[in-house]
Amino acid sequence: MILLDGKTTAESIKENIREELDTHIHNGLRRPHLVAILVGNDGASKTYVDSKERNSRALGFNSTVLRLPEDTTQQFLIDKINTFNSDPEVDGILVQSPLPGHIDERVITQTIVPEKDVDGFHDINMGKLAKGDEGFVSATPLGVVMMLKAYRIPTSGKHCVVVGRSNIVGRPMSLLMSNNSEYGNCTVTLCHSRTTDLGHFTRQADILIVALGKPGFITSDMVKPGATVIDVGITRIEDPGRKSGYYLKGDVDFNGVKEVAGHITPVPGGVGLMTIAALLSNTFRAYKLNMGL
Ligand code: GUN
Repeated sequence: MILLDGKTTAESIKENIREELDTHIHNGLRRPHLVAILVGNDGASKTYVDSKERNSRALGFNSTVLRLPEDTTQQFLIDKINTFNSDPEVDGILVQSPLPGHIDERVITQTIVPEKDVDGFHDINMGKLAKGDEGFVSATPLGVVMMLKAYRIPTSGKHCVVVGRSNIVGRPMSLLMSNNSEYGNCTVTLCHSRTTDLGHFTRQADILIVALGKPGFITSDMVKPGATVIDVGITRIEDPGRKSGYYLKGDVDFNGVKEVAGHITPVPGGVGLMTIAALLSNTFRAYKLNMGL
């Protein structure tokens, strides 16, 4: 079994960005600028946004985080996004999901201009992905592909089974793996909560990508020997014995499945770190397009 290490892989992607950025800075250009907007007090969302800010700064990007109260109106949020949309020195904008119930996420997703939509949630970017055209791809699926690429795991002609059909992960993941591209060309099966006999499908997977949010759900009997197993699940499990009060668990029963899988991602230390690297990569791409580079 080979462990797919998100830490070293993400570091090497960030190092490549850093080197290229150094050249642009040396030539007198400004730094890339990512804006993240957080509405409300969701603990996990706060952690993710803090991490995006920390990683952006560490890479030499400018980072603005707008932290808004839970009772922020939809119109106030739209106005803020529009200000960033028209600021030529802002390259990427993201609004952390989930949003409070009184805000319509679909409206917010369509408010960020597609050129700055580094999360790839806008209909135009999702549409481009569906058609196999170049656009911004949601960071988690993109991070997964970057991981497969880094470890040179063959995808062409392989059977990829994606479990979960969310707009953030499962659906774009299935499109990416089926597209005619260097790290696509898979035969893809997209499974979800209504799939009957899930194991029947997962056992056929050469590449199994799980984004369910059900800790430990995928057990060793559901995995084909030698398969590549990518665990996108990150659930906080309460643990009063820990300083943080919780630990993180993936959707895959790691200890059991690692005995069967050919390659497997750990949680933490796998896809989560790749998601950040992919977001930074999208932001750098938005910057270069914005600067005409
Ligand atoms: N919530 C969970 N994943 C994501 C993500 O990739 N982007 C944003 N904006 N919110 C999320």
